[in-house]
Amino acid sequence: MAQLWGGRFTKETEQKVFDFNASLSFDKLLYKQDIAGSMAHAKMLAKQGIISAEEGDAIGKGLEQILKEIEGGTLAIDETQEDIHSFIEATLISRIGDAGKKLHTGRSRNDQVALDMRLYVRDQVVEVAALLKELLAVILTTMEEHVETYMPGFTHLQKAQPITLAHHYGAYFEMFKRDRQRMQDIYERMNYCPLGAGALAGTTYPLDRDYTAQLLGFYGPTLNSMDSVADRDYLIEFLSALSIAMMHLSRFSEEIIIWNSNEYQFVEIDDAYSTGSSIMPQKKNPDIAELVRGKTGRVYGALMSLLTTMKGIPLAYNKDMQEDKEVSFDAIRTVKDCIVLFAGMLKTMNFKKDRMADSAMNGFTNATDAADYLVAKGVPFRDAHGIIGRLVLYCIEKNTSIDKLSLQELQAIDPHFEKDIFTAVSLKTCVEKRLTLGAPGPEVMKQVIELHKKYLEQ
Ligand code: ARG
Repeated sequence: MAQLWGGRFTKETEQKVFDFNASLSFDKLLYKQDIAGSMAHAKMLAKQGIISAEEGDAIGKGLEQILKEIEGGTLAIDETQEDIHSFIEATLISRIGDAGKKLHTGRSRNDQVALDMRLYVRDQVVEVAALLKELLAVILTTMEEHVETYMPGFTHLQKAQPITLAHHYGAYFEMFKRDRQRMQDIYERMNYCPLGAGALAGTTYPLDRDYTAQLLGFYGPTLNSMDSVADRDYLIEFLSALSIAMMHLSRFSEEIIIWNSNEYQFVEIDDAYSTGSSIMPQKKNPDIAELVRGKTGRVYGALMSLLTTMKGIPLAYNKDMQEDKEVSFDAIRTVKDCIVLFAGMLKTMNFKKDRMADSAMNGFTNATDAADYLVAKGVPFRDAHGIIGRLVLYCIEKNTSIDKLSLQELQAIDPHFEKDIFTAVSLKTCVEKRLTLGAPGPEVMKQVIELHKKYLEQ
């Protein structure tokens, strides 16, 4: 097939040049958006009397047919054309002749590709938001079931204070909720239509940009034609939000890998979400969590790639910008897969509540509460801190925990200890007393869970 722009040229493009320049092998993903954009453009051209109603009709029907055939697998997107825009236009012309040749009136591939990418990204933003919502629902179900499942909370990966599984999962609920909100923010900012910007300076045809914007579900048209064809901010924002979501998934993956390890055994990843070793028969590996953690680098890479591509580009369109596609398509698919797989792994994961509670008990996570106990008996906090420090040392030497000491042993260390120390340092008490908003205490946790439920119902 001849190039759409062949008129000015006296020589055929060198094959190597054509191959290097072409984007059809990857931008064919945009066929649906390209056809939707062209349909709206043709409808507007006819409404404005720039082409006749019959021509508008013929274009609409021709495009509809092309869409049907691509979806049905009867029209193959062959790589004789440079990009998806050329492919669809050339196919239309080969079928409907002169009317097809009028489709590109008042349009450039620059505003066309800007539109196609925007339509595509807009859909993907919505899809990612929906997947995040599903993940949030999985997390919330676990929170509801484990308001009283005790476990150690960590700082420096050292046991710190007792928390609950609901509380730990609640932290991730907040993260993924923000990720979802970021999708909504991006949508709001990006939902303006670049079609009608032309190559860079608008056109001399009386286009109705409000009309095409409305047909394509945008809030309205963009306001500067040069920015319209040169802007990829929305995509960078999306890749940035996806990178943050991957960072969250990666941290969570890391924790699950630790919890699933032979040493911790807080959880057991379901057989359906684990893999074995070809040589070590005993192995059951957390590959899904590891892959999610690993793929994070790839998504960050896409963000860095596009930021770098865009940083030196003068206004307006430059071919560099064609490089926005492959990395973005890969990153978007990767993130969607990761969310789905990760949610499936969480849903089927088994918690070993006894191991978690034992670990909290044996790690002196109640030491702060023991110090607070002495404070309540009139000991100044700094002294109480020292006394409990000595108590912990004593326990380490005896290989035991505070709750397992006898009252005599406790009183030998400090006379303020009384019988009520044992309930004061039980996991249940330690957690129940943490009642500030955002803390693991079951009463306040249940209130937060109610808020989360309402948020997901909205
Ligand atoms: N394939 C191109 C891209 O992805 C489409 C725009 C081409 N425009 C041009 N002036 N060569 O950016």
